[in-house]
Order: sequence, then structure tokens, then C-alpha cells
Amino acid sequence: MSIDRLSADAWNERYLTKDMGWDKGQCAPPLARMLAAHLVPTGAHVAIVGAGRGFEALEAVRQGYRVTAIDFAPEAIRAMHEGMTATGLSFEALQADVFTLHQSHPKAFDAVVEHTCYCAIDPSTRDEYVTAIAGALKPGGALLGLFYNHGRPGGPPFDTTEADVRARFSSFDFERFVRAPDSFPGRSGEEWEAVLRLRE
Ligand SMILES: C[S@@+](CC[C@H](N)C(=O)[O-])C[C@H]1O[C@@H](n2cnc3c(N)ncnc32)[C@H](O)[C@@H]1O
Repeated sequence: MSIDRLSADAWNERYLTKDMGWDKGQCAPPLARMLAAHLVPTGAHVAIVGAGRGFEALEAVRQGYRVTAIDFAPEAIRAMHEGMTATGLSFEALQADVFTLHQSHPKAFDAVVEHTCYCAIDPSTRDEYVTAIAGALKPGGALLGLFYNHGRPGGPPFDTTEADVRARFSSFDFERFVRAPDSFPGRSGEEWEAVLRLRE
């Protein structure tokens, strides 16, 4: 596996060349449902990590949250601004490395939304990802996640098993961890819908 393939430049190139098989042009239905369920209160500050073109961010704004969407690829940030212009909705689009979130935003967020970011990073850095997410959440904050468990070797996307998530997110209580019933076609039965709560 080449680490270069996982760099900001590499992801940016994928946006520039439209090599974006992950991008369905809309918020993932399980996350739209979870955001609408207001598992965190309206007005809560929600971070969307590895936010891509910002479809989850726009949906979170529609549901009344204050949103900071983070991605390290400049083309993703540009696309997020396009989405804001097209919809008239607004949120903070932040070009930054997710792994620094606990340093730039310590205990800042009521919730973090995870969608195909965990499977996009080098699996050997997953513990660092969890440190960054946990450090950026307020105590009692929630992780609303959709984890991709496709069972195939290689990546990205790198496979994410239930055992992996349960072991690494040990500082969280698992309020929900089920197969998402309403995944995008082609991902049915391959996604874990997760609501994890950072222990106080
Ligand atoms: C597979 S895409 C998913 C995008 C979006 N969540 C979606 O589902 O449409 C992974 C995204 O994570 C971003 N990403 C990967 N590693 C990152 C990091 N360390 N910091 C910030 N963004 C990262 C990439 O630039 C890319 O936009």
C-alpha cells in the first residue's frame, strides 16, 4: 500500500479527475435519518469529518445544526462552497487534517459525523483518528457514524469490522451498532450504523 495514495494531494487529484466512486451526490440515507432524529439537540455544533463535497454538511444545516465540515482536499472545500451557493445554506468549510482536530478544536463539538473517512485513512492510523475525534468532542458528545464493512482486501476504502470499531472506540459507549437498513444501493448489508457516546 502506498501512503501517497492517501495524501491530501492524492485525494484532491481524485476530485479533479472525477475519480469519485464513493460520491453519490447526496447525503447517505442512514445519516440523513440519524440527523433528522435529533440524537443531539437542534443548534448543537456538529463536525463532519472527511466531508467531501458536503452533502452530509448541507443535510445537517437543514436539520438545524451549526456545522463545521472538515476536509484536507482543496477541491472538496471548493465543492462545498459551490453547494452552499447552490442551496443558499451555509456552514463552515474548513481545510484541515482530521488528525489535528483535537488540537485545533479541543472539546469543541457536540457531535461528529463520520461517513467514509475512517475507511479512507491508513488503517494503521485508526487509533490516532479516534484520539483526534474523542479530543474534539465535548464529554458526552456523540459520534454518528456509518462504517463500511465490505469484507474485501485493500483500499481505500479499507474494510471496517465490528470488532475493529468496538476495540478502537473503547472510550465510547455504544448506544447503537446495527446494520444500516437503508444504505445506498450497492452498499446494502455492508454498513454499520453507529451511535457512540464519549464517556464523561
Ligand atoms: C471516500 S471520501 C468520502 C467523502 C464524503 N464523506 C462522502 O462520503 O462523500 C474521503 C474523504 O476524506 C478526506 N480525507 C481523507 N483523509 C483525510 C484527513 N486526514 N483529513 C481530512 N480529510 C481527509 C478526503 O479528502 C475525501 O474527501
